[in-house]
Amino acid sequence: NWTPFNFVEMTVNELKEQVGEDKVVLGLSGGVDSSVAAVLLNKAIGENLHCIFVNNGLLRKYEFESVLHQYEGMGLNVKGVDASARFLDALKGVDDPEEKRKIIGRVFIEVFDDEAHKIMDAKWLGQGTIYPDVIESISVNGPSATIKSHHNVGGLPDFMKLKIVEPLRMLFKDEVRRVGASLGMNPELLGRHPFPGPGLAIRILGDITPEKVAILQEVDYIFITNLRNWGLYDKVWQAGAMLLPVNSVGVMGDERTYEKCVALRAVESTDGMTADWVNLPYEFLQKTSNEIINKVKGVNRVVYDISSKPPATIEWE
Ligand code: XMP
Repeated sequence: NWTPFNFVEMTVNELKEQVGEDKVVLGLSGGVDSSVAAVLLNKAIGENLHCIFVNNGLLRKYEFESVLHQYEGMGLNVKGVDASARFLDALKGVDDPEEKRKIIGRVFIEVFDDEAHKIMDAKWLGQGTIYPDVIESISVNGPSATIKSHHNVGGLPDFMKLKIVEPLRMLFKDEVRRVGASLGMNPELLGRHPFPGPGLAIRILGDITPEKVAILQEVDYIFITNLRNWGLYDKVWQAGAMLLPVNSVGVMGDERTYEKCVALRAVESTDGMTADWVNLPYEFLQKTSNEIINKVKGVNRVVYDISSKPPATIEWE
């Protein structure tokens, strides 16, 4: 019978056998899957696992520093690479959602390849692919899963010529969390909401500027912190804020304002394929809206998204 304990024991032995003394490169996304895959590999091969965690400048507030710090605390051999400027530069003036995704995917591969190149003689690419990704083959969760195995042909980035090792490819999400728990990983890390690989880029409607990213990070931070403080975070499958390309009129003191509008979104779901908006308490929404408008300069209106998927999607882009 399947238990997380047995799975860990068996997988660690298999990984030792499969990888031997070789070096493995793995991209951490801050998400559950890549993190659990890294801890398993680390248990099997230690310092021969080289993790790379890229800041694309589109993460949540404090995310890069705090997650990197957690990874280091877990004993992972991890390098944090701040490539924010490179991503934001490449995205300048782009407002089409699919174009944004393509650019972010391309720049991620460039950055990752540069870093993987520095790890001499790496033989394997570790990935946090889980069973639903394997079936779907088109994955939606984070950079580590967006790098799909490719044929070993010329012209590909160097890291794509590596052999693939995917210790979680037979597991469902809840099993991954149980494995993580049995490895002693932080429950907060294991309980994190899904977050899209392109990050805040697809929550800023229209073109992306550093100022807009900073505004949305503040709004998102207030929303998520309040969800945690009200004990609502774990009751919600995913939550976040969207910065709309709309200004509306407001008043502050006796001044007329003409500022940005943000939409808050919180959904219940099991797999992201369908989703219902969450009936958050009015008092929570009231406090959160007041806090956002009072604290975040440039925002004078907050709305709550009450659309389900389908026909709406979870993200607005
Ligand atoms: P939608 O918006 O399609 O989102 O209802 C379903 C789930 O997928 C995530 N998502 C993405 N994840 N790259 C990702 O890694 C993407 O381009 C992307 N688009 C959406 C979304 O956050 C939700 O969990």
